[in-house]
Amino acid sequence: MNPVVDHDLCIGCGLCAELCPEVFEMGDDDLAHVIDGADCDAAGCCEEAADSCPVEAISL
Ligand code: F3S
Repeated sequence: MNPVVDHDLCIGCGLCAELCPEVFEMGDDDLAHVIDGADCDAAGCCEEAADSCPVEAISL
């Protein structure tokens, strides 16, 4: 599974980085970024993060 954050949609709410800090981090641009080499299968929280994003900016 390879998560992608759509930066045209992300409003920088930070929920994904809170729920799934192994995979998502907030960048200097205040938008969520996928951490290099992050492993959704190992982290096990990508789906929860994607489901929780208020603007559905995360696709898996
Ligand atoms: Fe952005 Fe959604 Fe995360 S708005 S910060 S991708 S929860």
